[in-house]
Amino acid sequence: MKVLLVGSGGREHAMAMAIARSVEEPTLYAAMKYKNPGIAQLCEEYLLVNETDLEKVADYAHCADLVVIGPEAPLAEGLVDVLDHRGVRAFGPTRQAAAIESDKGWTRSFMSEKGIRGCPKYALFDDLSDADRFIKDNIDEEGLVIKPVGLTGGKGVVVINSYSEGKDYLKTLRGPVVIEERLSGEEFTVQAFVDGSVLAPAPAVQDHKRAFEGDLGPNTGGMGSYTDKSDVLPFMNKDDYGAAVAIMQDTINALKSEGITFKGILYGQFMLTRTGPMVVEFNCRFGDPEAMNILPLLKSDFIELAESAVDGTLKQADYELRATVCKYIVPAGYPTNPKPTEITIDTDHIDASLFYASVNDRDGAITTTTSRALAVLGVAETIEDAEHQAERALQFIKGDVFARHDIGKKELVQSRIEHMKRIRDA
Ligand code: AMP
Ligand code: GLY
Repeated sequence: MKVLLVGSGGREHAMAMAIARSVEEPTLYAAMKYKNPGIAQLCEEYLLVNETDLEKVADYAHCADLVVIGPEAPLAEGLVDVLDHRGVRAFGPTRQAAAIESDKGWTRSFMSEKGIRGCPKYALFDDLSDADRFIKDNIDEEGLVIKPVGLTGGKGVVVINSYSEGKDYLKTLRGPVVIEERLSGEEFTVQAFVDGSVLAPAPAVQDHKRAFEGDLGPNTGGMGSYTDKSDVLPFMNKDDYGAAVAIMQDTINALKSEGITFKGILYGQFMLTRTGPMVVEFNCRFGDPEAMNILPLLKSDFIELAESAVDGTLKQADYELRATVCKYIVPAGYPTNPKPTEITIDTDHIDASLFYASVNDRDGAITTTTSRALAVLGVAETIEDAEHQAERALQFIKGDVFARHDIGKKELVQSRIEHMKRIRDA
C-alpha cells in the first residue's frame, strides 16, 4: 500500500510516525514545502512542493492508494476535491467542509442558524467601518475579540480592551471580520476522526498559544501542550468533555443535514466557561502541537481509521491513557523577530520523542527557519513525570533558541485548576 502524506511540520512528523506503525506496512511518500528530516527518514521518496500547488501535489499522488493531508491551507484550497476528481482516495474534508476553519464568519452563522450549543455572541462585518462603529458602541470592561474570517496561521485573533485598541487593529486588516464576546475560562482541544456521521474523539489536550512563560507575549501557532492520563485535563471533568464531544457531533450532524459530509479530522477548540464549553473555533485538521500529544497514544491503526473515515464506516479510536507533555523549540526572537540559527541535537542522549518541524537539514547540519523548529514529547504516568522527561530532552538541544519551560509544570497546571475553580465559583 502506498500512502502520500502532505505537509512538513511537527504535526505531519507525528502523522508519518503513526502511519509507519500501521499493520498495512505502507510505503510512505511525502509532499512537503521544506524537507522535514524526520518525515524524510520514514519516506521512500518525497517531493518538495508548495502544498497549495494542487495540480503538482495531485500529479505526484497519482499512484497513491491513500493521500493523508496535514495542513489546513491545501484543504481550504480544495486538494481533496481535486484528488476525488482524479479518483485518488484522500483523507480530509472537501473545500466546502473545510470552510468550518477557513471561513470563521460562515461557521458562526451556521452554528447560530442550526442552534448549536456553545456559540458565543458574535457579529459579522464585511465593512470595517461598520465593525469600527460596533466596537465603539459595544466595548465594555469584558473586552471583545476581533477575528479576521480567513486563515491566519493561528495569529490573527486579537482580544481588545478598548475602542482605540480595536480601531488600531482594524486599520491593519482588510475585510471581513467576526467580532465576538470575550469568553473567560480555560481552553482545551478535542480532536476527532470523522466519517461524515460518526465521531471518534481523542483525549483532551491543552495548548499554550502565548510565546512566553506565564502566558505572556504575542500569540503563536502553539508553544506546547499536554494531556493527562485520562480523556480529561486536571481542571475539567467528564461532563465537560462529554459536552464538547456532543457539540462536535451536533455540528457534524448539522453539516450532514445541509448535504456537507465532513470526513477527516475535526478539531474543536473550546473555552471551558462557568456555563460549560463554548466553541472558540473549529479546525479541519489535527492541531500542531496537539497531534504530537495524541498520535503517539493511538492504539488503533491510523490507516484503518483514515480509510474507514473515507468509506463512512468509522468505529471508535482507542488511545492509551498516558500523560504527555510536548514542548516546541523556537528560534530566538520568535514570533515577532525570529533569527534563523544553527542547532545541535544530541539524539543519543534524548529519551523523549523528537518531532522535527520547520528546519533546514544540510547533510546533518540543522538550522531553524523563522518558525517553530522541533518539539520534544515526554510520555509517562503523570504530567509531572512527562514534563521532566521533556525537560531532560531539551538539555540536549543547543542553539540560540528557546522553549516554554513552564508548560506542564506543577505550578502552571495547579494555577489552571485554581483559575477554573474561580470561574465556576463566580
Ligand atoms: P483562534 O485562532 O480562533 O484559535 O484564536 C486564538 C486564541 O484567541 C484562542 O486560542 C483564544 O485564546 C483566543 N480567543 C479566540 N476567541 C476568543 C473568545 N471569543 N474569547 C476569548 N478568547 C478568545
Ligand atoms: N495549536 C493550534 C492549532 O493547531 O490550530
